[in-house]
Amino acid sequence: MQVRAERPLGQGAKGNVYGGLSKGDSSVSTCLGHSLPGPGRAARRLRARRFLRRFRKVFAGDERGDLLNLLPKGSVGAEIGVWRGDFSSRLLSVVRPARLHLVDPWKFETSSGYERSRYGGAVVKNQAEMDAIYETVLRRFAQEAETGVVLVHRGPSAQIGMRFDDAYFDWVYIDGNHLYEYVKRDLEVFATKVKPGGLLTGDDYGVRGWWEHGVTRAVDEFVTGSACEPVRLRRQFVLRKV
Ligand SMILES: C[S@@+](CC[C@H](N)C(=O)[O-])C[C@H]1O[C@@H](n2cnc3c(N)ncnc32)[C@H](O)[C@@H]1O
Repeated sequence: MQVRAERPLGQGAKGNVYGGLSKGDSSVSTCLGHSLPGPGRAARRLRARRFLRRFRKVFAGDERGDLLNLLPKGSVGAEIGVWRGDFSSRLLSVVRPARLHLVDPWKFETSSGYERSRYGGAVVKNQAEMDAIYETVLRRFAQEAETGVVLVHRGPSAQIGMRFDDAYFDWVYIDGNHLYEYVKRDLEVFATKVKPGGLLTGDDYGVRGWWEHGVTRAVDEFVTGSACEPVRLRRQFVLRKV
């Protein structure tokens, strides 16, 4: 095993009830009186997205915070889909895991269908930028890697997942490729790698996004099988292995 090595918005920023962006504006006021300045349309849309995320967090509560509190302290877990490691950082500070495996290929996707994903053009524009993010993650968690708490695995989750023993993890958080077939595969692979009674959790259940409800479809289908029972089916979904 190699050891060291979308959020959807619901409505688009343009013309929605929160923002009211219009083409050509150089500064945009939201309904809460925030100003979203920026020279280009793309920059304004990005700012509007960030604003919406914060807005939702305030009004919908911190669902991820609730999830973090469900994960047992001192446990062994994995985050599938790491990006820059922001959630990994929260996992470390709240869960204080004995081991945290971070799994991500940090690969720029050039295939069609990924243009609106952050790793296919919406944020990062090429492989060099993905490599830079990977290096940042290595630096960010260098201290925890040194003590053996964090282990970074660069590669697709289904492939990396197969390297672990069955029933190794206390929990796995799935937030990688959101397309149906990838989430389905992640659920199948990691269900065998989680202990009985352990948790299979993840992000973006009930969200459409560029992945066209891939997460929701895969999770709904998966819970009809006998491997896991639903604990919580909210944006942060939680399943328990039986
Ligand atoms: C939504 S971001 C993850 C966000 C991160 N969990 C957080 O909350 O900060 C999705 C990530 O999945 C990664 N990814 C794409 N395909 C993947 C795959 N096959 N296996 C694991 N991760 C994948 C992308 O490189 C990207 O970093």
